[in-house]
Amino acid sequence: PQNVGILAMEVYFPATAVRQDELEDHDKASKGKYTIGLGQDILAFCTDWEDVISMSMTVVQSLFEKYEIAPDRIGRLDVGSETIVDKSKAIKTWLMKLFEESGNADIEGVDSTNACYGGTAALFNCVDWVESTAWDGRFALVVATDSAVYAEGPARPSGGAGAVAMLIGPDAPLVIDRRCSATHMEHAYDFYKPNLASEYPVVDGHLSQKCYLMALSSCYRRFCTKFQKIQGRQFSLMEADFLVFHSPYNKLVQKSFARLVFEDFSRNKSFVDEAVAETFHHFSKLSLEESYTNRDLEKASQQVAKSQYNEKVIPGTLIPKQIGNTYTVSLYAGLASLIHNKADSLVGKRILMFSYGSGLASSMFTVCAEQGLHPFNLSGIQEKLDLSARLASRTMVSPEEFGITMSLMETRYGAKSFTPESEYKVLQPGTFYLTEVDDLYRRSYARV
Ligand code: ACO
Repeated sequence: PQNVGILAMEVYFPATAVRQDELEDHDKASKGKYTIGLGQDILAFCTDWEDVISMSMTVVQSLFEKYEIAPDRIGRLDVGSETIVDKSKAIKTWLMKLFEESGNADIEGVDSTNACYGGTAALFNCVDWVESTAWDGRFALVVATDSAVYAEGPARPSGGAGAVAMLIGPDAPLVIDRRCSATHMEHAYDFYKPNLASEYPVVDGHLSQKCYLMALSSCYRRFCTKFQKIQGRQFSLMEADFLVFHSPYNKLVQKSFARLVFEDFSRNKSFVDEAVAETFHHFSKLSLEESYTNRDLEKASQQVAKSQYNEKVIPGTLIPKQIGNTYTVSLYAGLASLIHNKADSLVGKRILMFSYGSGLASSMFTVCAEQGLHPFNLSGIQEKLDLSARLASRTMVSPEEFGITMSLMETRYGAKSFTPESEYKVLQPGTFYLTEVDDLYRRSYARV
């Protein structure tokens, strides 16, 4: 098969959300801390009517309906998630309910978990399956779903919730180039979930930021080496038309792009303008370690990278800014934002993607935008995503009610024998929702 990649995609986010400026006031944080400091506008969250399973069912069913995909045309389904509902039973197995009627139970793949990296692991599995001898001519389906919730405190505004489904096959409008994927993995305790009785992570926020930037640099250098070997020429950011980053909060995306501009300077001064080289020259004596935490370098690089950031990065930031961190979903929510903003004008363009999951696992790879074959093309995806209308039609909940919901959700995590009771039963048509968790922890769902 040729040009294997993403044929179609659908994104889902809960209709319940809270504005970051209101959250700032409520939390008595200094004005601008969440909106400018973290760069976030709105945070989407699940009430007890929704969870990662219902969101994954909603997004898959919606993809099937919008693209008229019969469930028996799927031969592999991989799920990425770090929101643990069950320590054994994969989210994938719940999704099999959507295939029951078609009689299709012949579907490989289960769940992948490592913080925010699971979606990328699932994507690589599906692309590799289509490119392998195991491929039987059917589509693969990648699903990522997460609810990012934090204990009260500075990390809480960096939460979010959502799901994405991506149909994988040949002749795609978004071709994944597996030859050049570069990976960096190592052990770190930056963000982890050792307490199985709580949905909240243990997080060292500042260390996680440093680990993210270190992994980014490492992947970029490895990526450049591979690119040169395969293409016979050096890679620099001039070769990337757009960049999409895993987005825990937008400020880290700004810092990440700026870091890559500094990486280009460090590799070859001719990759950056003279004025930029002049600015970076003052920092060329910093050790690699110091360069990840030096505040002056951080500010200077964000400054010199700004115009390129506006052009190459902002188009892929809409959904993450509007719904918050969605862990495994985040990078692909960024890709959907780019399609929303650029659609067909992306054809022929190279998109550089960076995936990061704490603990830590990270990869950089490229997506090449192509014409695709009807009905799988970029303007079709843009139209079916219908993002502006969907983002605008949400229900904004007050910070007080958001806090009350978070407290309610703490009592739901790992619980049995309950039916949802949140007064915010805000569900658009087509949304799956939880109806009951029985006394054997068995979950039931219905669809609006
Ligand atoms: N106006 C404008 N900017 C402000 C204001 C203000 N009033 N107040 C603070 N800021 C800026 C700060 O200067 C800082 O920006 P900078 O880093 O560019 O200087 C930013 O806002 C955040 O302020 P901090 O004091 O660093 O914030 P705090 O320590 O309270 O929390 C953090 C931020 C660490 C990101 C926290 O939200 C967190 O732990 N989040 C979860 C961890 C995370 O997402 N890590 C990322 C990778 S791992 C993953 O994906 C889960």
